[in-house]
Amino acid sequence: MNIKSKIRNYTLSIEDDFTFVPELLKSENSLIVIDKTIYEIYKMKLFSDIAQENLFIIEALEVNKTIETALEICEVMTSIPAKRNAHLISFGGGIIQDITGFAANILYRGIHWTFVPTTLLATCDSCIGGKTSLNYKKYKNLLGTFYPPDEILICSEFFNTLSERDFKSGLGEVVKFNIMTGNQGLVKIENNIDALLERNKEKLDEFVNQSILFKKDYIEKDEFDKGVRIHLNFAHTFAHAFETVSNYFIPHGTAVAIGMLVANRISLGRGLLEESIVIRIESVMKKIIDTDLLQTTLAIDNMIDAIRKDKKQTDSNLKCVLLSTNMKLNVYNNLQKEEAEQAITYVLQLLSK
Ligand SMILES: NC(=O)c1ccc[n+]([C@@H]2O[C@H](COP(=O)([O-])OP(=O)(O)OC[C@H]3O[C@@H](n4cnc5c(N)ncnc54)[C@H](O)[C@@H]3O)[C@@H](O)[C@H]2O)c1
Ligand SMILES: [Zn+2]
Repeated sequence: MNIKSKIRNYTLSIEDDFTFVPELLKSENSLIVIDKTIYEIYKMKLFSDIAQENLFIIEALEVNKTIETALEICEVMTSIPAKRNAHLISFGGGIIQDITGFAANILYRGIHWTFVPTTLLATCDSCIGGKTSLNYKKYKNLLGTFYPPDEILICSEFFNTLSERDFKSGLGEVVKFNIMTGNQGLVKIENNIDALLERNKEKLDEFVNQSILFKKDYIEKDEFDKGVRIHLNFAHTFAHAFETVSNYFIPHGTAVAIGMLVANRISLGRGLLEESIVIRIESVMKKIIDTDLLQTTLAIDNMIDAIRKDKKQTDSNLKCVLLSTNMKLNVYNNLQKEEAEQAITYVLQLLSK
């Protein structure tokens, strides 16, 4: 698959199994950056032949998603004599993607970068779209650029070793894409959610492919997030608040799933969505939201404060994307504090039952 970009077009391929890895690792002038957990799990199977000097291992923690880590990668890569032919290859989820994308972008104003996503979230969502983000001091994703990988190589075999927490988090974005397509998407996800939760490979491949095609359409129209791409932010205004207030105990995709429930309750309160649809979406979401992750204090005032500070807010009126009549997405610039409070309280109660 080819993805159009104003930076440079790039490719994405879906691999059946791990046979592509040895060939990829033969690439000359390369540094291979690997998520520590991935390295430990797959060392014998995939990575035993990499020379130490070509290997850089990162623990996938938010505290490591910093400019310092990106600069360390750049520094190690200066020892590759080929300079602009240097090749960065990375294996991991969104954290590894964000760090390596940033490093690949700033080193020599851009080097060849191949990304192999290993989480469901990175595979079905973040690997395309070209955003790179780093945390700075207390600010999440404050620093960032647009720089897509030259190639993305996807292999759903990696999902077999994902923890239940991270697997369900990835499903949050998969479900979001389906809900965004309206009633047909809702029916499809209702019929397939159990097979997805069982990690049925055929279903996963089908939904990953569909998610990528869905996002591709948006990013090709609005790569730099100035217009229609805002729709992909559906549920994210609230998701970011859940992530921040839980101090990232709630992972991104799970926060998106909870954020969708909040958004839909607001739509219901405004008479934009039928209650039967809201309830059907809630039943699907309850299957993928790990309620153990909600055993953390989520003070409502802090949540509202976090919504106000979200970087997508552009003025004093609060903005959010909501489902409206016929499940069509619309951007609203008039989110009221009280309706957000009520919806959040309702959803937290619903999930605690
Ligand atoms: N750049 C973007 O467009 C974009 C979009 C969404 C999210 N993000 C960022 O992505 C990050 C979250 O990424 P994520 O959810 O992909 O996960 P992650 O990178 O945070 O990894 C989650 C956990 O899964 C482990 N892991 C990864 N692959 C595994 C596998 N195959 N088997 C077993 N364990 C595995 C990791 O070691 C880690 O413990 C956040 O920092 C978020 O801000 C970026
Ligand atoms: Zn997201």
